[in-house]
Amino acid sequence: MNLTDKELFRMAVKAEEHAYAPFSNFHVGAALLAKDGRVFTGVNIENSSYGATICAERTAMVKAISEGCLEFEAIAISGNGGTSWPCGICRQFMYEFCPDIRVISGEGEENLRSYALRELLPEGFKL
Ligand code: THU
Repeated sequence: MNLTDKELFRMAVKAEEHAYAPFSNFHVGAALLAKDGRVFTGVNIENSSYGATICAERTAMVKAISEGCLEFEAIAISGNGGTSWPCGICRQFMYEFCPDIRVISGEGEENLRSYALRELLPEGFKL
C-alpha cells in the first residue's frame, strides 16, 4: 500500500496522544515511513532534567534503526495537531541515515508541505 502524505500526517497526529510533554505542553508526533512500507511512530518524551528530552523524530528513528530498518522514504511531523518542523539536532540525526528523506508537516492535513531533508539542512555534516 502506498501511503499518502495526508495518511502519514494523520498517523503522526494520532501518535501525539502518547507524547510525554508535561513541561512544554507541546505534544509532538512523528510517523516515519520506511522504504519497505513499515511505519514507525514516535513522540517527544520530556524529562525533569530538561536536556534529557527526546524529540518525536528521534524516537521514531531510534525505534526503526534498533529493529534493523535503515532505509527511509518520508517522515510526517505534527505538533499539537499542526505544524512542527524538525529541530536542528533532529535534522542532523536524520541526515546521518537518510539525507534524501522527505519531511512533511503543515498547519493541518489539508495544508501540508514537504521538503527534502537536504533543503532543510544544506551542506549537512557527515563523516
Ligand atoms: N520537539 C520535538 O519533539 N521535535 C522537534 O523537532 C522540535 C521539538 C519537542 C521537544 C520538546 O519536548 C518540545 O517539543 C518543546 O521543545
